Amino acid sequence: MKLKMAMAGNEDLSEVLPECLLHIIISFLPFKEAARTSILSKFWLNLWRATKNIEFHESFFVKPEESDATQVMKRRVFIHFVQQWIGNYCESCIDKFALAVSKPENFVADIENFIAFAIAKGVKGLSLDFSDPTWMEDDPKNHEPLFDLPSHVYEHGVLESLKLFSCKIHIPAIKIFSLLKDLSLGWIELQEKSLKALLQHCPLLQSLSLTKCWNMGHFYLSEPSLLLKKLAIENCSFHDPVWIYIKNAPRLQFFKYSGKVASFDLDYLCCWEEADLDFGLESSFNGTADLLYNLLLDLFSVTILSVCSFMLQVISNSRESYGTAFPLNVRHLTLKTALHGHEFSGITFFFDNCPLLQTLTIVLCPARNFPDYEPPFEFIHNFWTKNLKVYKCLRRSLKTVEVKGFKGTANEFLVLQYLIGLGRVMERLNIYISRETDDNGGNVELYRERAQMLLQLNKASKKLQISIY
Ligand SMILES: *[C@@H]1O[C@H](CO)[C@@H](O)[C@H](O)[C@H]1NC(C)=O
Ligand SMILES: *[C@@H]1O[C@H](CO)[C@@H](O)[C@H](O)[C@H]1NC(C)=O
Repeated sequence: MKLKMAMAGNEDLSEVLPECLLHIIISFLPFKEAARTSILSKFWLNLWRATKNIEFHESFFVKPEESDATQVMKRRVFIHFVQQWIGNYCESCIDKFALAVSKPENFVADIENFIAFAIAKGVKGLSLDFSDPTWMEDDPKNHEPLFDLPSHVYEHGVLESLKLFSCKIHIPAIKIFSLLKDLSLGWIELQEKSLKALLQHCPLLQSLSLTKCWNMGHFYLSEPSLLLKKLAIENCSFHDPVWIYIKNAPRLQFFKYSGKVASFDLDYLCCWEEADLDFGLESSFNGTADLLYNLLLDLFSVTILSVCSFMLQVISNSRESYGTAFPLNVRHLTLKTALHGHEFSGITFFFDNCPLLQTLTIVLCPARNFPDYEPPFEFIHNFWTKNLKVYKCLRRSLKTVEVKGFKGTANEFLVLQYLIGLGRVMERLNIYISRETDDNGGNVELYRERAQMLLQLNKASKKLQISIY
């Protein structure tokens, strides 16, 4: 922060600090910002070229909205830029090397040279991403990786962090990644047995992230992963029905899952602190309510929880959820929701079961409707005003509410009116206005006017301050 201020202001750091210290500072900046320092003055022009944190992303050059021909041309310019940059690099070692380029098949020799450069400089953090931003919604099976990880990387035992997206990895070739703490794999085929073999080579692993991996059968974390703290499984494709076993990870604290509803078999749950659950890939409610209810029972220790619209719509339909409140330990709850009527009973389910809730974040997203939705009771339009129930968290603990993507729809009003009118200890309500325009002529100005109307509502808490951003 200070550095930015100094750079923006009149003070020139180059007059105050010795050059070797400036090299260190520059290595801490994101690559793009380091590059920006080159415009400060003649002295700074080449200083950023000494950064130890190197990051080449084709999006610096190639824009998705451009025509294919333009993209091909600009991708060439990008590769040429990387060649030049590396050719002029004078430092003896680097910390991090990241390269993101789609269609690597046209530049295999160049990319191999870039990787050889990073390895020769003793890189500790290597990130290679050959996926294409346009694939987002696709089935990962349709995108076989078009680049093979060069064999010398497998012997580079000093790696601490490795990210490989759409890059073929030959697991039997790995000698040992004895220092590897952070591993992230995406857009590759990864069978259960490969994952098992891989984990055997990474005794110090603290963070494992799998995105859009396929042919996974089930997810089975059975190898002792004694130091693992973070596990993220995002939109991987498993056999139906999905089973997620997480055993032998006694230090696990953070769990992120997005995909279809699964049967979860989890251990060492008392250390878990944070869970982020998104069932956006699920298309039907059939049989899922009890699975989710049992999952929540398992998550009794987490203090930070994020749930999606699917969870909110289905949870009140579980057989057990009637009447039996079980207290969750959640202090910060994030709801990804449209605040659609179908989600209301789920929202109150969480108010009811999170008696220690301090912070509520509502992230507004498009509504999803499911053909087999069954309301747990007849939907009533005065849900938030009739038979008003003031949950314990509203009386005792809920201090902060944030709403992201506010448009001021009728349902947003109902929910906020309820919170403002009954949140007795609320101190802050932060409204972040949506930047999207919508088909009914909604725009930022209109949303802001609607948000102003919230200021007129009756507040249960004298301390409540409402801010609009
Ligand atoms: C996973 O899929 C959901 C639903 O399609 C999507 O919103 C989310 O961005 C995806 N996440 C990743 C990491 O691909
Ligand atoms: C619901 O799931 C059960 C098995 O879990 C299956 O037999 C049944 O056909 C499914 N029903 C629908 C409507 O998909």
